[in-house]
Amino acid sequence: MRLNKYIARSGVCSRRDADGLTAAGNVKINGAVVTVLGRDVKDGDVVEVNGRVVEPAKKSVYIVLNKPKGYITTASDEHDRPTVMELVADVEARVFPVGRLDADTTGLLIMTNDGDFGNAVAHPGHEVYKTYRVRAEGVVSDERMARLRRGVELNGRRTAPAEATFVRQSAGSTVIDLKIREGRNRQVRKMLAAVGNKVIDLQRTAIGDIRLGGLKPGHWRKLTQAEIDSLRRA
Ligand code: URA
Repeated sequence: MRLNKYIARSGVCSRRDADGLTAAGNVKINGAVVTVLGRDVKDGDVVEVNGRVVEPAKKSVYIVLNKPKGYITTASDEHDRPTVMELVADVEARVFPVGRLDADTTGLLIMTNDGDFGNAVAHPGHEVYKTYRVRAEGVVSDERMARLRRGVELNGRRTAPAEATFVRQSAGSTVIDLKIREGRNRQVRKMLAAVGNKVIDLQRTAIGDIRLGGLKPGHWRKLTQAEIDSLRRA
């Protein structure tokens, strides 16, 4: 198997990033640094990435987790905060988050040990739609909804057209669904702030055709083959 595929199948990163790590001298085969791309890994070879032995998973595993508040979306945290990895310790393979959710954001997080798949879904150019249920302070007027749909200026760049749907109004807050295809840092919170509303609660309810449905916070389920295929097509 080619070296970059071997590394991606180990869940470390995508094939492209594996090439980057290799070119930078961070990959060894049988103890010797390899900087040539496209090397073949043979049965019995020991591959190390950044000093850690990696091995391709026997089988690709794809799950969806309902992330609770307070968990961070990285494999380890320097401040010892709880990470989503703790919630998937009982999954048969070591799976990694695809993209990120803020610590305060809840909801749908895809996790996999297939580095190429994860990279493709998270890549901004790939236009997979993500849907968020947003509870915002005050009233999100029709005019503000229209601005969210058209796109708002964030850090000097307008956000792509989005879908915004009114859900309900209560005394102090408005609930809307916002469907976006970019994944800029804290994008939904910043979009709402740009039109004048502070986000109180944020939950991701869908990525493409994959829905959270009745999955309880802190629980995970496997993606169905149809769901995996739908993301591959997207
Ligand atoms: N937008 C945000 O502001 N936060 C998230 O976690 C996801 C999207």
